Amino acid sequence: MTEEQGFSTRAIHAGQDPDSATGSVVPPIYATSTFIQDGVGGARGGYEYSRSANPTRTALEECMAALEGGRHGFAFASGLAAEDTLLRTIASPGSHFVVPSDAYGGTFRLFSKVHERWGVTADPAPLADLAAVEAAITPGVTTGVWIESPTNPKLAIADIAAIAELAHAADALVIVDNTFASPYLQQPIALGADVVVHSTTKYCGGHSDIVGGALVVNDDALAERLRFHQNAIGGVASPFDSWLVLRGLRTLSVRMDHPRVTEVFYPGLAGHPGHDLAKRQMTRFGGMVSFRVAGGEQAALDMCARTKVIILGESLGGVESLIEHPGKMTHASVTGTPQEVPGDLVRLSVGIEDVADLIADLEQALG
Ligand SMILES: Cc1ncc(COP(=O)(O)O)c(C=O)c1O
Repeated sequence: MTEEQGFSTRAIHAGQDPDSATGSVVPPIYATSTFIQDGVGGARGGYEYSRSANPTRTALEECMAALEGGRHGFAFASGLAAEDTLLRTIASPGSHFVVPSDAYGGTFRLFSKVHERWGVTADPAPLADLAAVEAAITPGVTTGVWIESPTNPKLAIADIAAIAELAHAADALVIVDNTFASPYLQQPIALGADVVVHSTTKYCGGHSDIVGGALVVNDDALAERLRFHQNAIGGVASPFDSWLVLRGLRTLSVRMDHPRVTEVFYPGLAGHPGHDLAKRQMTRFGGMVSFRVAGGEQAALDMCARTKVIILGESLGGVESLIEHPGKMTHASVTGTPQEVPGDLVRLSVGIEDVADLIADLEQALG
């Protein structure tokens, strides 16, 4: 599979050659924990134990790498397992990270409640402000700059190429959580990122039926260290989950080409502060939109309770539209911190139902 091939071709074929034993067009689910060895040390095809490697997971890892334009992919049991494995690979006591001031709440929690105890610090910075990012980087101390673009749930846009220049000048790694854009709309490695992170639970899986995560890198030495930690820590994607994400990836482009919606926090709107940058950096603006409801928190909660077609639930990126109240749901863990989300904010993940039904549902829910 070459990088010159189009996105949809790679999504359907990368890592997914027909099964050599049977000709099965779809990669089989290799539901096995172990593999027969032809004598001690005689593993067939490199597989010996499924925590270390499993052919279904390899297919997903190769496909994710091909879609992100990187050489190496790694699949995990969740987005946070991917993030944790990455941090344990690149950080050690004394390491410092710059993180988006409105990063996904779970990412914040991982830094502040888990890794801080091991001497790893993280400073939030508004990534749309390059001077603030530069000021937050301490050369020789800052291990990485963590980017999310668009962010969850406020959809702020960061200039990945410009931040990569600043970070690399200080020998810091650039990590991009590309969950909201998906590899179809944005490929951070081409913009200078060293590591791409995904919650494959979202657009990559696309059907709200699995929890998964992935990392993609280009650098061979970093890939080797990640491979070691993926096996040593063990938070890997199961064969069945890997198969479901692969199935989701095959329709990613079709799902992302669905007609867009325009609401208040949406990079597709000319008035959005990151609009021009998003236009340069992404091929489309995506299906995530957040907005504030007049009448405050109760009005926002009431609206979430009234939608009928749009399902009240956490997560995003599935074929069905989902609505949620970040302050009380996905971002409840940052309540009382500077990252607290406004109480009147509602987040919508637009699925592929008929647009007229979604608009009618929103209209009746807003009253
Ligand atoms: C932007 C972003 N990154 C990472 C995660 C964590 O992924 P997971 O829930 O698969 O662990 C999420 C989950 O909502 C997310 O929205």
